[in-house]
Amino acid sequence: MKLYFAPMEGVTDAIYRRVHRRNFGGVQKYFMPFISPSHSLTFSRKEQFEMDPRQNAGVPVVPQILANNANYFQATAELLRDLGYQEINLNLGCPSGTVTAKVKGSGLLREPDRLRAFLDAVYAHPPLPISIKTRIGYEQPGEWPRLLELLLDYPFSELIIHPRTRQEFYSGAPHREACSLLQREYLYNGDLFTAQTVHQFLSEHPQACGVMLGRGLVANPALAQEAAGGPALTLDALRSFHDDLYREYMRFWPETAVVGRMHLMMKYLCSCFDDSTVYRRALRKVTTGEEYERIVSGLFRECPLKAQPAFDLDILLS
Ligand SMILES: Cc1cc2nc3c(=O)[nH]c(=O)nc-3n(C[C@H](O)[C@H](O)[C@H](O)COP(=O)(O)O)c2cc1C
Repeated sequence: MKLYFAPMEGVTDAIYRRVHRRNFGGVQKYFMPFISPSHSLTFSRKEQFEMDPRQNAGVPVVPQILANNANYFQATAELLRDLGYQEINLNLGCPSGTVTAKVKGSGLLREPDRLRAFLDAVYAHPPLPISIKTRIGYEQPGEWPRLLELLLDYPFSELIIHPRTRQEFYSGAPHREACSLLQREYLYNGDLFTAQTVHQFLSEHPQACGVMLGRGLVANPALAQEAAGGPALTLDALRSFHDDLYREYMRFWPETAVVGRMHLMMKYLCSCFDDSTVYRRALRKVTTGEEYERIVSGLFRECPLKAQPAFDLDILLS
């Protein structure tokens, strides 16, 4: 069973990935949030930091490219190969309006002829194995059979399916039945938040050779480890991970940026605790590292770990 960490822009950055890697097991590949090349092939400082092999040392990372121009894709893939990466992932799933308006990410799914021309060029001389992460359509799930037929014409190294359309973003239940059309191996992604649901999904879908976990793994950083048969989350392990992450961000970022990022992180991690509402509310008002540390210490001291931690959208949005 393959267990991959989904790319999550603004969450699973290089610092996060390496701290996760040294605190928890179970993840075979960490997918980097997308890099979006422009015609000049100049990358933002953030993208350069993400791609820097020193920031990814010891972590099995797969860079992801968001593009609709095969030349930019090819040049970026060659650059990533020269930096030492061994595989590239193509993003055909991003639902963001600014991305789809440029016919990138899931925006390409709405233009099959353009997608085909792009994939023809991308797979003509791939410098590295290229996997694809896709949704099942743009407007509606009925697009999937034709889209799948198109994708199957290309020698992707792996296919990762998030069975929602672009219009659905992340709402509603994923269309898991769409995965049954596959007569070959694929990886499934979407709404798997406990080890039990991972196992259940895999037992019910024999063609799925693994899963990619996103929000569930951020909310419970031991989820992949537990799904792989290792230890479930403990309070000590969560505290060590949290403190390691906080310290590591402090090494690289200004304090206000660290507090902002850790606040977001705690929205996910609060899914692990019972009775954390008071602390979650208090964290909203925090502006300094000192205040943040005080409230988080209270949370770890006073709130019990849930018997079954799992991502909770209501907590994230509250
Ligand atoms: C905040 C956020 C950022 C994301 N960034 C990316 C990204 O950069 N590339 C990508 O392919 N998917 C991205 N995704 C989608 C996730 O990789 C994943 O497909 C989605 O969260 C569904 O999986 P889950 O239910 O296990 O979370 C993002 C999702 C979220 C919530």
